[in-house]
Amino acid sequence: MGRRAGQGTAFDPGDVLMKIVVDAEKCQGHARCYALSPELFSVDDYGQSSVNGDGTVPTELEGKAELAIANCPEFAIAIVDD
Ligand code: F3S
Repeated sequence: MGRRAGQGTAFDPGDVLMKIVVDAEKCQGHARCYALSPELFSVDDYGQSSVNGDGTVPTELEGKAELAIANCPEFAIAIVDD
């Protein structure tokens, strides 16, 4: 009731997925990102973090991505505009 035809299928800017990146120059290996969200980050043997895949964040993990961004002491994680 009240649902228009096609509702939910039209392009909605809110549907654009978040994408994140780790700045290798800033990362100092604190690994908080990985501890908080291993789904989104990997840490190598030297403690250097990198995003999994191309950094695209599934909608259900956006909260974790924001948590990781907020908890990196080096401000090494950023959201990129793709
Ligand atoms: Fe590096 Fe920050 Fe993660 S310093 S390992 S991106 S918490």
